Amino acid sequence: MLNIILLGPPGAGKGTQAKRLVDERAMVQLSTGDMLRDAKTSGTEMGRKVAEVMATGQLVTDDIVIGLIKEKLTQGAGGGFIFDGFPRTLKQADALGALLDGMGQGLAAVIEMQVDDAALVSRITGRYTCGNCGEVYHDITRPAKVSGTCDACGSHDLRRRVDDNEDALKTRLMEYYKKTSPLIGYYYAKDKLHSVDGLAEMDHVSQAIAKVLDKG
Ligand code: AP5
Repeated sequence: MLNIILLGPPGAGKGTQAKRLVDERAMVQLSTGDMLRDAKTSGTEMGRKVAEVMATGQLVTDDIVIGLIKEKLTQGAGGGFIFDGFPRTLKQADALGALLDGMGQGLAAVIEMQVDDAALVSRITGRYTCGNCGEVYHDITRPAKVSGTCDACGSHDLRRRVDDNEDALKTRLMEYYKKTSPLIGYYYAKDKLHSVDGLAEMDHVSQAIAKVLDKG
């Protein structure tokens, strides 16, 4: 079973590539961003706090996020887990290591998606997703074939995220460089790190990831 982490700043293409791996390899995507967006709509006090934090672009507390992942790990994964947007801090990385150890599993690879910050603004401000199946689109690079309709499931519920604006993106990038980018060194030292060019065309990025996974 292949358990992998997709690591990269907001807009690097983690969600896009995770969806492809789910379709092609029957892996299970664990996106903490998606889980937190679900929690926001739960109507609970926790959901309200999470919504406030996410709108500004700051990170949600480690304990909340680790709790969400722990719950999902017990549900099992066919072809392995794709951790998308998790871990984002050293504490989360240590917790993930311990959780996988406890299940008698490990990480096959950590794939760092390298991108240029300048490209991220247009990626983030042009993005929209399907509220029903999570398919990811972009106004210019990946528009829906029929405007307003999801190619994958036919839903008309295409949405833009509240944190996909330039102000929140600045905070999200700052959070990434301060708290998440140290994980690059952390996983390099564990001999798990593989870097791919996230600025390449989507199919080329998928091929680069496949090369890493197929090497075992
Ligand atoms: P999260 O939902 O994880 O967002 P993110 O990390 O900011 O990443 P994104 O979803 O914005 O980008 P992506 O890399 O998935 O890019 P995508 O494939 O969509 O987190 C949101 C918030 O939740 C955080 O700010 C935080 O508050 C909280 N949170 C989440 N996890 C947490 C954690 N572990 N700890 C604490 N807090 C947490 O692509 C972007 C666009 O580019 C799309 O339109 C796509 O079509 C396009 N695109 C993709 N690839 C290419 C390509 N190769 N060429 C051209 N266009 C491309």
